[in-house]
Amino acid sequence: MDQFLIEGGRPLSGSVGISGAKNAALPAMAAALLTSERVTLHNVPRVRDIGTLRSLLDELGVDSSVTHEDHGNRVEIEARQLLNPVAPYELVKQMRASVLVLGPLLARFGHARVSLPGGCAIGARPINLHLKGLEALGATITMDHGYVDARADGLKGTAFYFDTVSVTGTENLMMAATLAAGETVLENAACEPEVVDLGHLLQEMGAQIEGLGTGRITIRGVARLRGARHVIIPDRIEAGTFLAAAAITGGEVTLLNVEPKHLAAVVAKLAEVGVEIDSSAPPPPGARWGTLRTRNAGPLRAADVTTQEYPGFPTDMQAQYMALMTQAEGTAVITETIFENRFLHALELARLGADITVDGRRALVRGKTPLSGANVQASDLRASASLVLAGLAAQGETVVDRVYHIDRGYERIEEKLTKLGARIKRISEG
Ligand code: EPZ
Repeated sequence: MDQFLIEGGRPLSGSVGISGAKNAALPAMAAALLTSERVTLHNVPRVRDIGTLRSLLDELGVDSSVTHEDHGNRVEIEARQLLNPVAPYELVKQMRASVLVLGPLLARFGHARVSLPGGCAIGARPINLHLKGLEALGATITMDHGYVDARADGLKGTAFYFDTVSVTGTENLMMAATLAAGETVLENAACEPEVVDLGHLLQEMGAQIEGLGTGRITIRGVARLRGARHVIIPDRIEAGTFLAAAAITGGEVTLLNVEPKHLAAVVAKLAEVGVEIDSSAPPPPGARWGTLRTRNAGPLRAADVTTQEYPGFPTDMQAQYMALMTQAEGTAVITETIFENRFLHALELARLGADITVDGRRALVRGKTPLSGANVQASDLRASASLVLAGLAAQGETVVDRVYHIDRGYERIEEKLTKLGARIKRISEG
């Protein structure tokens, strides 16, 4: 398993290009199952999870190709026919977002057999709302041998209320509803930019959708969808991670190819902490997206944060924020409201010298504590990012183990950080 070797204590400086959003590209690839025509996606990030989903499409008998472009990869998918409606355990256990094929397979082919994803490090991650919603659309759902077996002889529009806001739950049902007979209204739907981006792709494919970005999404079913070409939005979590990396090292960094609107909660919180972020910098001529410039205005000050659904402070930035708070003066209370076990990084940060007390859904970070390099182990995607950030601020050498977690959602992070002056290298272990 690969490791990162980090020599900390160097402020980052320079500019870094942000990749396309993994969590927008994954549902967009699943949406290609809704049509027999070609769907072309640009600005797809070069991360492991995209490869995993391509393997799953291959397993289903769906052709796809990847071509290197200036900004990310172009992925082309043509689901002309389906050889097999089964998403196997071996692939779903690697990436729970595989469950996103459930809705499209059911809507287009009337049958899907998807392994239950099982839990993961950050929580139980049930998919009960996905299944309840598909049943409300007329599917018959049974479980056997750890698989969800969903069948439908044509889906029928309905009104469905999400007991909990669910990002992929909203995505699954929105995709299924595009081919259901009649109108579907999703209440308490997710408003994340990735959900909106999927909705834009579906509209480009001919779907009738209103209310994207609000808690109430209305979908009027159509007989079929056509192919489309779509550019994936920038990854707001990768962008937030680099803002935190600049702040924790006391550096000055410019982020290119970002959508500042998607980062409002993160930018506001970092401003409260004493990080100056300028979104007025003009993007390079012809650029599709914006630019963010960041520098610390002075010593960092602790500030409390509570994770919430969009547009609140994202849970996917909580671990990175915790690392930053170890370098801020004062005590920060971090409250995690989305997942029940998303503080695993606290124990590893403590090994670097952080003073963190975890009590259920709340973590108390007392700063500023000097961090000294040590061996640490990544447990999940964003926890790994948090450990890399702490390693950049620690004196001496930090070894982060199991970096395959970070490769799932960050495109060549060690190369991007090296370009910004960090001393980080990948050690491949066999
Ligand atoms: C998406 O996961 C993201 N993944 C996650 O990003 C992100 O952390 C999460 O949304 C929250 O923003 C992708 O988009 C691929 P949820 P998802 O359904 O959809 C409960 C990363 O780092 N729930 O919004 O699985 C659930 O347990 C990943 O890139 C049910 O109870 O999250 C959680 O407590 C990590 N029943 C809450 O809702 C359900 O049927 C929110 O989960 C579904 C969810």
